[in-house]
Amino acid sequence: MSGSMLSAIHVILGVSAFILPVRPLDNGLALTPTMGWLHWERFMCNIDCDTDPHNCISEKLYMEMADVMVKDGWKEAGYEYVCIDDCWPSMARDSQGRLQADPKRFPGGIKKLADYMHSKGLKLGIYADVGTNTCAGYPGSLGHYDIDAKTFAEWGVDLLKFDGCYMPKWTLLAEGYINMSRALNNTGRSILYSCEWPLYEWQFQQPNYTAIQQTCNHWRNYADVFDSWNSVTGILDWTADHQSLIVPVAGPGGWNDPDMLVIGNFGLSRDQQQTQMALWVIMAAPLLMSNDLRDIDPTSQDLLQNRHLISISQDPLGKQGNRTAKVNGFEVWQRPLSGGRLALAVINRQEIGGPRSFPLTLALLPSWRCCNLQCNVTQILPQYQEMGVHSLFSKLQVLVNPTGTALLVVSPVKGKPYTRPQAKKWFYYLKKDKSQSILL
Ligand code: GAL
Repeated sequence: MSGSMLSAIHVILGVSAFILPVRPLDNGLALTPTMGWLHWERFMCNIDCDTDPHNCISEKLYMEMADVMVKDGWKEAGYEYVCIDDCWPSMARDSQGRLQADPKRFPGGIKKLADYMHSKGLKLGIYADVGTNTCAGYPGSLGHYDIDAKTFAEWGVDLLKFDGCYMPKWTLLAEGYINMSRALNNTGRSILYSCEWPLYEWQFQQPNYTAIQQTCNHWRNYADVFDSWNSVTGILDWTADHQSLIVPVAGPGGWNDPDMLVIGNFGLSRDQQQTQMALWVIMAAPLLMSNDLRDIDPTSQDLLQNRHLISISQDPLGKQGNRTAKVNGFEVWQRPLSGGRLALAVINRQEIGGPRSFPLTLALLPSWRCCNLQCNVTQILPQYQEMGVHSLFSKLQVLVNPTGTALLVVSPVKGKPYTRPQAKKWFYYLKKDKSQSILL
């Protein structure tokens, strides 16, 4: 090849590297946010099967959860992955250096558990750690990435949650997460890769989200969720404070992970459970429940299986929503949906008093264009209600309980859009209207 041809190719490669969009991890997985169940928040590291056989980390727990997922409509609603978290392995690797499950608590081994899940049309997730040990002190994968990825693939595992404890130097986090991503890819098995890389890197520097998005299918950014309102609002506040950095990188194949849904446990009121579900759906978050599906109250079950909410979560456009207003103790969050639609959440962050009314005129939303000239408004939460067709300038009142959320879907109705002078006139009247001043 001639020198000039080579340099022409270099120029083309150089230019295309510059203009090609950054691609998320391309393993064909997590094209919409992952749905399933993960043991950690509810069952933690309970390994005492002698005194607590019903709740300890053992193969029985996952098999029972899988049975219920099929029997009680979870699988049908879209929940697919049954995921093991920390505390499953034996303290020692086997003679060939492979991780092995604790023999007393997992007598059948992980392969049998994976087969069990597959026989029910479900998938199995497992947990490991990028460092020398897992957070609970079990063997970590540092120095064993290839063999661990191969072992998981041979067992038929479908998802790996890769934690970030006990890394001897934080500067090794990036290469650790990237090497495990490669190792998983090299197995030839499709294994969804759930990372905690940014969470651990934030303690030292702002993570490189482009690299993270090219490496992982989802990634934890912030502290572990607890079964409390304080924890849920902490996650929401952190997300809103960092939205300009983290929202643009989310999309099909790679998602920000605000941690598990704790709906159906002990710490959240009915309104707070609705807020967690509505906002996880707006954030295009993985929907990984950590609760006891064998014993869950019907209201929580209905909320988690609400098909309108799940269809927002799984919307094919795959855009994460963000906070667009914070005013008078309310927050407004919006997520663009396919077909020019919009999901809109209004949270009442006040923790005193009764239900408060939020005045809503679609023209005042940052994405008001979605509704020019008219749109159909459907309330999904607190209860389903068709609110009818509204013009850009009609005044809607949304009633929201303290710590609760109203979730609406706004869909455009075809019509002739407002002309500029018409719109200008209406905006002028709106600005003069005191009841609307909250959004201006
Ligand atoms: C934490 C992680 C939790 C859970 C736990 C297990 O660091 O963020 O989600 O996996 O370790 O020990």
